[in-house]
Amino acid sequence: MENDTNIEQLVDEFSRRIEAITLAEAENNIIPRFNQLKTIACVDAEFRVHDDIPDEFKQGIFAQPRSYPAKLRFANATQRDDSKKDLRGLSIRLSDVKGRVLWGEPGFQDFILNSYPALFVATPKDFLAFTRARQEDKKLWFFLNPLAPHLKSLWIVFKASKKHLSPLDIRFWSTVPFRLGESDEQVVKYSVIPCSGHRTEQAVEPGENQLRAAIKAHLQQGPASFHFAIQKQSDPFSMPIEDASVVWDEDVSPFQTVATITIENQDFDNPESLAACERCSFNPWQSLAAHEPLGRMNRVRREVYARAAALRNKE
Ligand code: HEM
Repeated sequence: MENDTNIEQLVDEFSRRIEAITLAEAENNIIPRFNQLKTIACVDAEFRVHDDIPDEFKQGIFAQPRSYPAKLRFANATQRDDSKKDLRGLSIRLSDVKGRVLWGEPGFQDFILNSYPALFVATPKDFLAFTRARQEDKKLWFFLNPLAPHLKSLWIVFKASKKHLSPLDIRFWSTVPFRLGESDEQVVKYSVIPCSGHRTEQAVEPGENQLRAAIKAHLQQGPASFHFAIQKQSDPFSMPIEDASVVWDEDVSPFQTVATITIENQDFDNPESLAACERCSFNPWQSLAAHEPLGRMNRVRREVYARAAALRNKE
């Protein structure tokens, strides 16, 4: 059980530090998320599972060709100003899901993705070291400390931070792996790939809310769509479970589309919708057993996300 004790210690220290960091960043009595703090938009969507997917992928929510109502949250990781370089986040919650969930409320399946295929740190221990550095305002030291440098992390942050014109044109990845099916045979990652007819070619209303404006402008001229795709682990060494900083090579194991997400025009840019988006929360463990989150990074996230969301929504 040493492993579990270790996870508990990580969860406790993470939660303590995240509480202190996010309380210090609160504005107008709103405690922001520790990560993906700027809400760009929450939109309703349709998540339609295709009927021609490989038999081995027909598991959990992909077992039958059908549609699920979905809610999508688009966010910026660190910047409140959309025009700045950043990593973007996409969180998805499907509803009307049948079956027992591993955590949370029955009927829902969450997927949480980032706009870069790897996380900037390999393990929860490294993430915690970064969190300590963030709290002490020594982020650069975390990357460049000559005794324990994290140069690969710095390189990933550099490559992942980009200016974007619209979240509807960005590709997203789960970065960490999940089981597919209830046996141990299939380990997968997810990607959400834009496939709309329309692309945003220049900034819409350039400035701090330009990504929200771009979503609005796109939906006014037609629906937006994404493919939801699965990548299978085909080699446990080059496609590890326990190193979140490794990109699984798509030439070796390509992503295969299993569903399409469609977002129709709607009114999401209003104070009520944005406030509800700020309050909502996601958790990778809000999941059917057929999509169980794998690895230590995901084990830590279960309780850390739950505590962070509870803190944000405390009356
Ligand atoms: C040990 C590892 C990690 C820790 C401690 C951590 C921590 C957190 C916390 C505390 C939140 C805010 C939760 C809330 O207040 O509701 C969050 C949100 C988020 N994290 Fe992580 N995270 C980890 C790994 C990851 C990974 C691997 C991804 C890759 C996709 C990721 C992507 C996101 C996204 C997209 C959100 C926003 C969720 C939302 O829309 O509410 N995180 N993370």
